[in-house]
Amino acid sequence: MSPKFYSLRIQSIRRITDDSAELSLEIPPTLQGEFNFDAGQYITLKKTIEGKEIRRSYSLCSAPYEKAWRVGIKRVREGVFSNYALDHLKTGDFIEVMPPTGNFRAVSQQEKARNMVLFAAGSGITPVLSIAKTILQEEPLSNVTLFYGNKGFASIMFLEEIESLKNQFLTRLRVIHILSRESQGIPLQKGRIDTEKLEKLFKAFLINTVIDDVYVCGPEEMILSVTSFFEAKGLAKSCLHFELFHAGNVQKASSVENQITGVTCAVQLILDDDTISFEMTQFDQNLLEAAQRAGADVPFACKGGVCCTCKAKIIEGAATMRVNYALEPDEVEQGYVLTCQAVPTSSSINVSFDE
Ligand SMILES: Cc1cc2nc3c(=O)[nH]c(=O)nc-3n(C[C@H](O)[C@H](O)[C@H](O)COP(=O)(O)OP(=O)(O)OC[C@H]3O[C@@H](n4cnc5c(N)ncnc54)[C@H](O)[C@@H]3O)c2cc1C
Ligand code: FES
Repeated sequence: MSPKFYSLRIQSIRRITDDSAELSLEIPPTLQGEFNFDAGQYITLKKTIEGKEIRRSYSLCSAPYEKAWRVGIKRVREGVFSNYALDHLKTGDFIEVMPPTGNFRAVSQQEKARNMVLFAAGSGITPVLSIAKTILQEEPLSNVTLFYGNKGFASIMFLEEIESLKNQFLTRLRVIHILSRESQGIPLQKGRIDTEKLEKLFKAFLINTVIDDVYVCGPEEMILSVTSFFEAKGLAKSCLHFELFHAGNVQKASSVENQITGVTCAVQLILDDDTISFEMTQFDQNLLEAAQRAGADVPFACKGGVCCTCKAKIIEGAATMRVNYALEPDEVEQGYVLTCQAVPTSSSINVSFDE
């Protein structure tokens, strides 16, 4: 079944910095099974703002063991939803919420003894905080090193919670703040997390550490720097995990555009045990939009290839994606696509949102 939205009550909304707030949702006991999540996953919120339906994804910053569903929202300049959330949402309001999903996740195993290295910048702390708490709480033999980039101290989201985690897990958690606009008196901790900084941080904090997993959430440039840095250090791709919130500078793959010749495709779409048939041409933007035009209530959020809310499986036929920042290689191998990025390359296609 494709995921659906539920109207949920906002239990509380709390300012955490000048430009961010933590929103806590009340999940009725009957829905808690459906809202179970792994550390690192996100939910999608939906609200009609100035007459327009707006959907945005937010990573849960609470940990599964807390049995709480909290997100941290940071104001984006001129952003429709983030500004609405910070300026207008209040305790007791209802909001539409799609259950948790996402591939950026860490599942704890009590007997594991691993070294987790986490990188976050700005609001990218939300899934990383959930992962850190989960590992520290549920894997007593594992250690966590968190590198957290921000402009200055005043803009650090969840600073108090991180400090109290440090006190609780004195020997197992290291937190290194990197500030781009303020000095902490240590040159190493001033600037941005780029390749040059990574080399220095590695020498200072990780040289004697056997790293098991790296998780990174932040701007695209930081994700690219961190993942290629640790790949060059010999870490397997399967141990490198990233979450991108916004596909700002993502380049459209020109090889995909070359495959788009305008061919007409007969689409059979399976959604909630129903089959919908329609035709699309390759000039239609993508499978998702063609399906919406045909009247299908298909799931989506970012429409930019960075979440995986619109994921579906190609049962027959073929499609190519413009960009994919969310599906794992093995999912692509199995035929899954992000429908907001997928264009059919065969004359007929059978695609299922129910798989
Ligand atoms: C899986 C996932 C998890 C996410 N988790 C969080 C989270 O925990 N906390 C959080 O605050 N946000 C998170 N986001 C981002 C969030 O979904 C929204 O994109 C963000 O809040 C901006 O929405 P908006 O409506 O305010 O801005 P929009 O109206 O969508 O955008 C306004 C302008 O800002 C640009 N823009 C949009 N988003 C960003 C951004 N993140 N950085 C820089 N420029 C941007 C747009 O290109 C546009 O020009 C997540 C996104 C994804 C895909
Ligand atoms: S809607 Fe987010 S990847 Fe398609």
